[in-house]
Amino acid sequence: MAVVGRPRRSCLAVPGSSVKMLGKAQGLPADQVFLDLEDAVAPLAKPDARKNIVAALNEGDWAGKTRVVRVNDLTTPWTYRDVIDVVEGAGANLDCVMLPKVQNAAQVQWLDLTLTQLEKTLGLEVGRIGIEAQIENAAGLVNVDAIAAASARVETIIFGPADFMASINMKSLVVGSLIPDYPGDPYHYILMRILMAARMHDKQAIDGPFLQIRDTDGFREVAKRSAALGFDGKWVLHPGQIDAANEVYSPAQADYDHAELILDAYQHYTSEAGGRLGAVMLGDEMIDEASRKMALVIAAKGRAAGMTRTSTFSPPAE
Ligand code: GLV
Ligand code: MG
Repeated sequence: MAVVGRPRRSCLAVPGSSVKMLGKAQGLPADQVFLDLEDAVAPLAKPDARKNIVAALNEGDWAGKTRVVRVNDLTTPWTYRDVIDVVEGAGANLDCVMLPKVQNAAQVQWLDLTLTQLEKTLGLEVGRIGIEAQIENAAGLVNVDAIAAASARVETIIFGPADFMASINMKSLVVGSLIPDYPGDPYHYILMRILMAARMHDKQAIDGPFLQIRDTDGFREVAKRSAALGFDGKWVLHPGQIDAANEVYSPAQADYDHAELILDAYQHYTSEAGGRLGAVMLGDEMIDEASRKMALVIAAKGRAAGMTRTSTFSPPAE
């Protein structure tokens, strides 16, 4: 798995209509911010929100953060103006455009071509602005493979649970929580389907929001489910969710140490000096090439999160 990409353990939603929140977000420890023109902004406030976002991107200090703008979806009258105004106004200070409620590959291709036109017009490097595709309805999920493959610009596939639950008539109002009348995890299939498409095309997979913003334990519980499957991060709607997301989507220290240990041990044992062995015991565990691949995933996540190992491998004495 090559996918590492930009860090996105915590993706902070910031309404473009709030100058105050656009300012405050800059000082928060989220890996990514997405400045919203869509559902957190009332229709009458959208024109001003575009201006606020352009000013915040150009004048703010977003050092260390992935900068994303969520435009409105392509069934609305706003998408075109959102993309043109934001990229013309602040294209050099923008990393990705997030397209919500994506239904098919053609919508991603429209955005790709429009961004290419803008980049050429503005003298920006063609392809430097990425795309984040939000899956929020049945059509999006059914077409998720084609959506992930629609453009080299696509960096992430994001689950949008609130819109998704509404679109399929799911019988719950609490995003991420289990449903009393259903014995299993109602999100498992959706999360796995998104993850398969993302991994097949070497993209990140991001989990969506948890709306009960004061319930940090609930946030952790829901986040742990997608983190366990392999998701790279989750949206955060409130500063209080950021630390939990950064922690849940980083490996535990013991797992990170163990992964680095496996990599070192396997390198040693497969070498001439280590005996050219392909399957060996490391303590009580048998490790082989597949163990190395699993360890690489955990080690890459830990390194990307800036973790340092607390143990080292020493080959057994002769
Ligand atoms: C996010 O956009 C969602 O609908 O959950
Ligand atoms: Mg949504």
